[in-house]
Amino acid sequence: MISKLENGAVWYDTNGNIIHAHGGHMLFKDGFYYWYGENRTKDNYVSCYRSKDLMNWEFRNNILTTDSKTEAIRIRTDLRLLNELGGKVNLERPKVLYNELTQKYVLWVHYENGIDYSCAACAIATSDSPDGDFVYHGSFNPYGYMSRDCTLYKDEDGTAYFISASRDNADLHVYKLTEDYMNVESLVHKLWQGEYREAPALVKKGQVYYMISSFCTGWEPNQCKYAFANSIDGRWSLLKNIGDETTYCTQPAFILPIEGDEQITYIYVSDRWDGENYHNSRYVFLPIDFNKDGSISINYCHEFEININDGKFIAKDK
Ligand code: GAL
Repeated sequence: MISKLENGAVWYDTNGNIIHAHGGHMLFKDGFYYWYGENRTKDNYVSCYRSKDLMNWEFRNNILTTDSKTEAIRIRTDLRLLNELGGKVNLERPKVLYNELTQKYVLWVHYENGIDYSCAACAIATSDSPDGDFVYHGSFNPYGYMSRDCTLYKDEDGTAYFISASRDNADLHVYKLTEDYMNVESLVHKLWQGEYREAPALVKKGQVYYMISSFCTGWEPNQCKYAFANSIDGRWSLLKNIGDETTYCTQPAFILPIEGDEQITYIYVSDRWDGENYHNSRYVFLPIDFNKDGSISINYCHEFEININDGKFIAKDK
């Protein structure tokens, strides 16, 4: 049993294999945290792990691979999971939400052709279980727009949003999804025009939404910024720095609320990419501090332990 984790070290699943869940997302369902992320090994695209304690991760399935079943839906999409050279495409930053209406697990992901970044599309897939074989429903450009780094966010009333970098990453688009999460319903915002925000991650604390994002420097880390708003389609604040000039050598993947008996802790889950050797990329988990003056901050710690019962994130080296 693993009782503490080291940020930036190689993390292993309960079978002793390296965890490949890059640019990922988590879903809490029936007592388990499901961790989805990019797995670019062999024929894989997206893998799923699960854990009860956020430290010991059981590999469950490669939920999207080059061999995944494809199925057309009402939206006109491109169903190809291989490019015209017969090579793998790129599926980046997969995010999964559970849809109460259809009882499906719905995955949205950034799609590129594996040769260059010219598709700038999103793609969707669904499954009846959180870790089943997902059925691929194809890629498309929402309202014809470019769509790259992305996230999904489900609000308390079940309304979901897809947020993605558009116009060659210059603007960050916020789309409200249809009730079944299978299409965009409206474009509710074009945030931070010309500010080139990537890797968006969103959370709500109390009545306030916070979004952390990075600047646009490929695999190289940069200074992350955050903003806040009282409603997703309302006015968002100006962007403010968070972390240090490389955000401790990380880029956001998502923000995870842990609801314990004593407190809710919000964890900044991030990737420490290795641009030279993608498979050597690592993970960094850090708690977010919500300060009295309304600001938020993250501080680095090397080793940590999470107690999901009381909701505490215990930094071991402070
Ligand atoms: C980053 C992006 C990653 C990946 C990478 C490729 O900016 O956040 O998801 O697309 O660029 O260079």
